[in-house]
Amino acid sequence: MSKSVWLGGCAAAALMFCAPAIVTAQDDAADRELVINGEIEIVTEADAPAHLENMSTIRSGWTFRSPETQTMQMDDFDNPGTLGVEAAREAFSADLGNGESCAGCHESPEELAGVRAVYPKWDADAGAVQTIEMQINECITERAGAEAWGYDSGEMIDMSALMSFVSRGEAVNVAIDGPAAETWEKGKEIYYTRYGQLELSCANCHEDNYDNMIRADHLSQGQINGFPTYRLKNAKLNSVQGRFKGCVRDTRAETFSPGSPEFVALELYVASRGNGLSVEGPAVRN
Ligand code: HEC
Ligand code: HEC
Repeated sequence: MSKSVWLGGCAAAALMFCAPAIVTAQDDAADRELVINGEIEIVTEADAPAHLENMSTIRSGWTFRSPETQTMQMDDFDNPGTLGVEAAREAFSADLGNGESCAGCHESPEELAGVRAVYPKWDADAGAVQTIEMQINECITERAGAEAWGYDSGEMIDMSALMSFVSRGEAVNVAIDGPAAETWEKGKEIYYTRYGQLELSCANCHEDNYDNMIRADHLSQGQINGFPTYRLKNAKLNSVQGRFKGCVRDTRAETFSPGSPEFVALELYVASRGNGLSVEGPAVRN
């Protein structure tokens, strides 16, 4: 499991990638299996999709967490993210502000099962790749004629969590070819670009150094199959692009904003790195 330590080992000034003894303990955690509520089997490790040149195996962020954090995700009663899902279930039948509701057109959230696994996806009408948040806002504004929700607002993150919840166990399978190809290429370019004072790309951390320690964190592959994730650190559900923003900021770079074309492209690309893992949101992470 020990990998070449980049940046000259633990002595590097700004950042430290180390592989201390703690890694052994966490390897036990990596061998566990994720079954939610004793019934939903989650694929947390799979062969890398063909387009990934530098990795042979993909792993959910769940496999990098401590046994205690892992266990919280194994039962919906222990997963604090369930509260957001329940709030969204109520919002699903609530008035969008003009008498319309999601439930007026979609019988139940379960009718949308499986949808999460293929997002972001190309939308022919919009002529663009859309994230699930954009799709939800398209329903709210263009179909229901109501006021849009904030892209990264609490109500949107909860609804996104509900969309993941009803798709749990489905294999992530975003399309990267056809009309989505151009956006995917753009996302890939962003993933490998070094940003900020620290000159770090997403790949420097999540591809070259996953399984190593960075400060106190056990670095994962930065997969997004578990989003929105309930983070113990900030005690709330976090969106995919909110997380991207935090990671870019950590490199001391100016960041793109959630909903920007750059982050939409990056989300499509990062989602495609997880093709084959199961949707497992809302996941629990540190
Ligand atoms: C006025 C009717 C209407 C309302 C209200 C509405 N939707 Fe939709 N929604 C649609 C239609 C029509 C589609 C497109 C159906 C399709 O693509 O199969 C759609 C598509 C979707 C999709 C994508 C399905 C897919 O297969 O890609 C999601 C997710 C979704 N709606 C969620 C919601 C949510 C959440 C709400 C409430 C915030 C909502 N919708 C409100 C009519 C509506
Ligand atoms: C300096 C190293 C570093 C860089 C660069 C970095 N990240 Fe992260 N990232 C982390 C750390 C540390 C965590 C928390 C531990 C973990 O889950 O890996 C994290 C977590 C994540 C997660 C959450 C994974 C989960 O399972 O919840 C995602 C997604 C992510 N990063 C994506 C990105 C993307 C996309 C980029 C490039 C824009 C990026 N990161 C750049 C260090 C980095």
